[in-house]
Amino acid sequence: MQTSDLVNQLAPSATIAAAAKAKELRDSGVNVLEFTLGEPDFTTPAHICDAAKAAMDAGHTHYTPAVGIPALKKAIRDAFERDYGVSYKPSEVTISNGAKHALHNVLAVCCNPGDEVIIPTPYWVSYRALVELVGAIPVLVETTEESGFCMTAEQFRGAITDKTKMLMLNSPSNPTGSVYPVEALEALARVAVETGVTVLSDEIYSKLIYEGHTFRTFASFGDDVKAHTIIVSGVSKAYAMTGWRIGWTLAPENISKAIDKLQSQQTSNPCSISQYAAVEALNGPQECLSEMMVAFQARRNYVVERMRAMPGLTFVDPGGAFYVFFNVSSHFGRELPGGMTVDNSSDFCTALLADAHVALVTGDAFGAPGYVRLSFATNMETITAGLDALEKFLS
Ligand SMILES: Cc1ncc(COP(=O)(O)O)c(C=O)c1O
Repeated sequence: MQTSDLVNQLAPSATIAAAAKAKELRDSGVNVLEFTLGEPDFTTPAHICDAAKAAMDAGHTHYTPAVGIPALKKAIRDAFERDYGVSYKPSEVTISNGAKHALHNVLAVCCNPGDEVIIPTPYWVSYRALVELVGAIPVLVETTEESGFCMTAEQFRGAITDKTKMLMLNSPSNPTGSVYPVEALEALARVAVETGVTVLSDEIYSKLIYEGHTFRTFASFGDDVKAHTIIVSGVSKAYAMTGWRIGWTLAPENISKAIDKLQSQQTSNPCSISQYAAVEALNGPQECLSEMMVAFQARRNYVVERMRAMPGLTFVDPGGAFYVFFNVSSHFGRELPGGMTVDNSSDFCTALLADAHVALVTGDAFGAPGYVRLSFATNMETITAGLDALEKFLS
């Protein structure tokens, strides 16, 4: 039997593919320096794991309400109000199997085939595929290093047509690490309200903010803006809980109800045990967050300083998340000792892996040819060795 046209046109996740390539080389005995995956290298804090064990012991091993247990909805609402001063009703919160699933749900309940979804480039690898999966049309708006990889209100307005349903925004951004300044966000918010376009704000990296930068949730610019905003977030990045698969959506009630209906038919509910663990993540001690941030800040500063000194690389200093997205196009056209010429970012990554055993992800996957993404969500030893190898490779 043939697989469907829908799945046939879907590109596999490039970050997962790059990690698989690195693993293949590692399995052959090579010590690969790995910078492909976007997940904290820390283990989930012990008190969160303990809460999961306690949930199992207490028999919380059954189906839950389709979009989550009341205790987790409350913890999410309380945390959002405490951190950002914006309140949501229980009926406006839905919990899903990770933020990626939450994004898919939102697109599935909001978009009809042919609707347009605006996505600023560089974008997270899955955005485009998720939009295409529901039959909607991604409308890409290019942002540049000069603008700090932030889309302007004029660009947003210029991309809107009578088919536009939504803007997908991600600040702090994967892959660029850029954090939209408050005024830039507010200007986008005003366009959304004026034009009636909903903003799907992916705030999964909101807790990973570096010195000198400020996170502001898109829903915080007034009730009119909040009514045009759908927030997606989760515990994966902030609490090193990528494997637990808990994400959520804060959205106007009609959208939340539609997600509830969809999810009840689709997955029943997010994992019961993970939900109890997420309650502890949000309600329990928060020192684990600041401890992780101290490590991320030190890595970020080190990576930025080293890479600024390397020939021919340009990038925006990351204000959040754990990526550096750098332009390598000044190295295109160079020939390697083995005879291979580096003509694009993909060649660059292939050659770097083969020659220096450093694994990165090509920028093409993020809609930004000429660029390469390095994830510094790994230990300092690997970072130091990887940057030494990158420096040697470039020279
Ligand atoms: C921008 C962005 N959104 C969403 C996700 C998905 O998060 P989760 O693991 O909770 O599905 C990721 C993961 O890499 C991401 O980078």
